[in-house]
Amino acid sequence: MIRNDILISKISDEVKNRLSGEGSGHDWWHIYRVWKMAKYIGKRENADMLIVELATLLHDIADWKFHGGDETVGPRLAAEILAQNGISPDSIASIVKIIEEVSFKGAGIKTEPSTLEGKIVQDADRLDAIGAIGIARAFATGAKFDEVFHDPSIPAQIYASPAEYIASKGKKGRTVVNHFYEKLLLLRDLMNTQTGKKVAEERHRFMEEYLNRFFEEWEGQS
Ligand code: NI
Repeated sequence: MIRNDILISKISDEVKNRLSGEGSGHDWWHIYRVWKMAKYIGKRENADMLIVELATLLHDIADWKFHGGDETVGPRLAAEILAQNGISPDSIASIVKIIEEVSFKGAGIKTEPSTLEGKIVQDADRLDAIGAIGIARAFATGAKFDEVFHDPSIPAQIYASPAEYIASKGKKGRTVVNHFYEKLLLLRDLMNTQTGKKVAEERHRFMEEYLNRFFEEWEGQS
């Protein structure tokens, strides 16, 4: 039996190699942050940490957006990597299920994973979209889609469905600041775990503070 920490570091090295140079915001450092956060939450929620860590490391291994919409690529690749590393079939099944439940849907979609470990991975993934990192990611994504960062004449939209929200990406009339109201400020209420809720609360407050200051500066206030 290989020790869990050796197994985890072996798989994290493999994920790091595969994702290096991935510029979509789902790069290795996204995985790294979500992994650290999942460990933080998992320890406080008494979860099976091997499952939490491996599922987190593999949750974006083949982001569907880059595989022609084929949602089975990620789970299949994850299962392959896990099997090669001698993970038991039971554990592989649990991990693959988590990846299926959390990885393909945009962060704003309210789908609750069926296990504690899945809930933790989803919370950690969503937490990476808010707070200081979330602000950075929002502006970086906006730039990629050629969105202006703010235009007071364009109101925030409420999207009827996540699909509609995703389809609107890159369309004219979207702004990065509106993205906070359309998605990022809604994530706090989607947390599954108590620990996730606590972290989200603090990150949410920081984004509100940031936006207040942003609007003050926009209007020439000190
Ligand atoms: Ni992710």
